[in-house]
Amino acid sequence: MSKPRVMFVCHTGSISGAELVLLDIVQPWAGQSAFLFEDGPLAPALASKGLKVTVSRWGQGLTQVRRDSSVLKVIPLAGRLCAIVVELISAARRHDVVYANSQKAFVLSAIAVTFARRPLIWHLHDIITSVHFGAMQRRVQVALANFCTSKVVVPSQAAADAFIAEGGKANLVAVVPNGLDVLPEASSPAQIRQELKLPEGPLVGVFSRLAAWKGQHVVLQALAKAPGVSCIIAGDALFGEQAYAAKLRQMVDDLHLGDRVQFLGQRSDVPRLMSAVDAVIHPSIDPEPFGRTLVEAMLAGVPVIATDAGAASDILEAGKAGTLVPPGDADALAEAINKIMSRPPALAAQLDYADARARSHYGVAQMLQTVSGLIDRAATGVPV
Ligand code: UDP
Ligand code: GLC
Repeated sequence: MSKPRVMFVCHTGSISGAELVLLDIVQPWAGQSAFLFEDGPLAPALASKGLKVTVSRWGQGLTQVRRDSSVLKVIPLAGRLCAIVVELISAARRHDVVYANSQKAFVLSAIAVTFARRPLIWHLHDIITSVHFGAMQRRVQVALANFCTSKVVVPSQAAADAFIAEGGKANLVAVVPNGLDVLPEASSPAQIRQELKLPEGPLVGVFSRLAAWKGQHVVLQALAKAPGVSCIIAGDALFGEQAYAAKLRQMVDDLHLGDRVQFLGQRSDVPRLMSAVDAVIHPSIDPEPFGRTLVEAMLAGVPVIATDAGAASDILEAGKAGTLVPPGDADALAEAINKIMSRPPALAAQLDYADARARSHYGVAQMLQTVSGLIDRAATGVPV
């Protein structure tokens, strides 16, 4: 049978972790289509992978609607949402499978495929809980998933468990860990620091978009208790979290960390930056569905300190491949930072273990093979 015609659907034009995963997933699907609700850097990035990209006429700015918004806030937008569904119905009819890469993309795609009668796969990059979604949203998502999808792809058991706990059908779920390939960095940490004008001495880094649940504020609190340690914070407020970004800068002033903390903004060279720091911190205060930065750090050969919530414990094998600290605990984080900076003798073996684990469990090839298999089976109507 010839390759199925696939349409990948995204609500956003920005590129965060979920979209970076998609940019890998589409690799075997050059010549196929992507439908974005809004324009942005994702459109040319998908086009550079050989996809035919369509941007909705009606979706610009809709990403500013927060995903925990009440139904009342969504009602005035109903006309535009319906218009996007109409666009999706007609586009879906020209394809064999629809692949929705986010919650918003999924909800509208689910409505569209019931009219277009096409199989739908939902790549769910979130942990569905009350922390991020209102009760009504959770009910609607799970009901639509149960009735409209061939498969719900999640990146971790933590995300699967949350979906099932909300009433999602267990037999719909496929746990497909995110895959990452990072090339080894040729330059030494000292060269990179010099080139990028990074501070000398003990240096930690945080490489996540700026958002309250990502927990950068806890790192600042911990730095106040870890004298002599500097920190680079890469990432931007991609989804309307500008107030949090401002709060972080204010905290730097209030805690007198101005000479130790540098905000680098959104970067495209994260693995290179990682290889120049002494530890990568992953400080999310809510459970992380996956956390690509964990695996990126493992592949960069850098110690990881992560909060013990969501997928981190699995990825770091309960602390064998990195250090786990309780979420939101600045004291524990400061203690962990100070310990890593003292380069304990067991660290070298832990780094080797982490590298081997990242390669064996989180490769791009494995992810592509599984997802492509799911798309093929959805297209042929074989139960997946
Ligand atoms: N990232 C980036 N530039 C930055 C900060 C982060 O390219 O300045 C990347 C980071 O390397 C990782 C991704 O964004 O691949 C974030 O993915 P993750 O799964 O950790 O979290 P998300 O932001 O998707 O929730
Ligand atoms: C989401 C999650 C993150 C995950 C990424 C890719 O952005 O917050 O944990 O790694 O999607 O699946």
